[in-house]
Amino acid sequence: MLKMSACIGNLTGMRKWRRKYYDIFSSFYDWVIKAHSKDARERLREFLIEKAELTSGMRVLDLCTGTGSVAVKVKELYPDLSVFGLDFSMGMLRKAKSKRGDVFWVLGSAAGMPFKDEVFDVVFCSHAFYELKGKEKYWALGEVKRVLKKGGRFLLMEHEVPKNGFIRFLYYIRILSMGFGDGLDFVKRELDVLRLFFPYVTRLSSPTGKSKLIIGEKR
Ligand SMILES: C[S@@+](CC[C@H](N)C(=O)[O-])C[C@H]1O[C@@H](n2cnc3c(N)ncnc32)[C@H](O)[C@@H]1O
Repeated sequence: MLKMSACIGNLTGMRKWRRKYYDIFSSFYDWVIKAHSKDARERLREFLIEKAELTSGMRVLDLCTGTGSVAVKVKELYPDLSVFGLDFSMGMLRKAKSKRGDVFWVLGSAAGMPFKDEVFDVVFCSHAFYELKGKEKYWALGEVKRVLKKGGRFLLMEHEVPKNGFIRFLYYIRILSMGFGDGLDFVKRELDVLRLFFPYVTRLSSPTGKSKLIIGEKR
């Protein structure tokens, strides 16, 4: 099911070239990820989903779902859950929909989601949060808090600072391209920022140590 029209209005003011960039990137995104991480990404997704402690009947959102890898995996492992994947790139969502038609694919912005208050038990955001620009990160955190039920959990997965010099260089380019200074500042203070929105925040490292998982719980 594809709900592409849900919040076109919210998207019109956003930088169109960023969405265009992701639309173009969607054609080879999965290929790049596979070539770069071999099967490590698959194990990482399993680790992320395991930490969500999903149970029957839950409603789950994969924020900035891209080509839907987390949403698709959740639906594969827990067919009875209602799974939603939200992204602002139509190209990414088309790819996602070609993988599974029984996930609700929603076109929308992380900073203004087309959902009612307190409707999700779990919100995932995998390797995408750092790509929200400037204040969008704060707006998105406010939105995640709003759409989560009480006791719901936000699982934010991002890269740790890479040890390899060249990869570390690319990592900082990615962060800086999302707003000079602001992106780096967020990375340094992210746990404190998360605590402004969620009273219980924990931080874990992935089994390979290359990604971190930050879990915020709404009370
Ligand atoms: C690096 S991809 C990550 C995709 C996926 N979560 C994964 O783990 O493979 C980042 C995604 O975030 C989406 N995105 C970036 N800014 C967004 C925003 N403000 N609202 C919604 N989606 C956004 C992009 O379209 C892209 O699909």
